[in-house]
Amino acid sequence: MISVSNLSKRFDSVQALNGISFDIKQGEFYSLLGPNGAGKTTTISIMSTILEPDGGSVTIAGFDLQKDPTACKKNIGVVPQEIALYNELSAFENLLFWGSLYGVSKAELKIRIDETLKLFGLFDRKNDKVKTYSGGMKRRINIASALLHKPKILFMDEPTVGIDPQSRNLIFEVLEKLHKEGMTIVYTTHYMEEAERFSDRIGIIDNGQLIAQGTLDELKSLSKMKETIAVSFVNLTDSLFEQISKEWTDLNRVENSIHFYSSDIKKDLSILILKCNQLGLDVIHIEIKKVNLETIFLNLTGKQLRD
Ligand SMILES: Nc1ncnc2c1ncn2[C@@H]1O[C@H](COP(=O)(O)OP(=O)(O)OP(=O)(O)O)[C@@H](O)[C@H]1O
Ligand SMILES: [Mg+2]
Repeated sequence: MISVSNLSKRFDSVQALNGISFDIKQGEFYSLLGPNGAGKTTTISIMSTILEPDGGSVTIAGFDLQKDPTACKKNIGVVPQEIALYNELSAFENLLFWGSLYGVSKAELKIRIDETLKLFGLFDRKNDKVKTYSGGMKRRINIASALLHKPKILFMDEPTVGIDPQSRNLIFEVLEKLHKEGMTIVYTTHYMEEAERFSDRIGIIDNGQLIAQGTLDELKSLSKMKETIAVSFVNLTDSLFEQISKEWTDLNRVENSIHFYSSDIKKDLSILILKCNQLGLDVIHIEIKKVNLETIFLNLTGKQLRD
């Protein structure tokens, strides 16, 4: 359905994308997961014709994005990271504006606006000015505006950042419904819980490159470790970290803690405590974490998803 091949993009001194490639199948819910500045918005902006790449290519529903952008656009709905609505207009008027941009006829549009407002629980507020809406309600209208022309593919760039739990849950319910109905969804997030909850497949992005990709189970099996032993210390110094690094093959420092990766927790835990004692490291807290996207990301990049 979508093929992204070797995209590169530079902004002045920043190489935002560095040869990123991935394919998305029809009906798939694909999440791009990565920290701030990883290149998620740049990727999705190129895929939705908002930005031009320096190199590489994208095909959408069989059309080449550079040769046939209009055909591509017909197939996609785009929910940008920044909310784009007119505060002085009502929800209805905003949707009328966006729908006409997507080329939906006026008669059809009125029906679609009512349908999408109902879908997002805002039909009662249809004629209220958007400036009276909460952030979460604005976000819902923002998503609604991308659906009016019944696209086959929906691009969403971090649609749940900074909104209330009620709106977030409603957005999740709508996404689940659209996914069940067969829509292809491309979703960016830096919340691993969201990527874990919905995705058929997840692409992990960092420094403008895809560093791993697969179903959650595939990603889990990619990493050799099974669990993380997260140990916090009172007196962790650079030199003590260096010493313990020589004793453990796979580990990462996170401030005053060290994440030790283990495939045999029963055996490793006692060995680890012994080594810490021998080095004079004072332990204040130990937590054993099952492998999840956060630990996979840390293991692959040495960085935390949330900084
Ligand atoms: N218009 C621009 N001008 C200069 N640099 C830019 C521009 N847009 C993005 N960048 C840089 O490109 C890199 C990738 O940015 P991008 O917005 O794609 O990241 P992101 O993964 O969406 O991050 P976030 O989670 O913060 O939204 C960053 O280093 C960013 O500072
Ligand atoms: Mg972004």
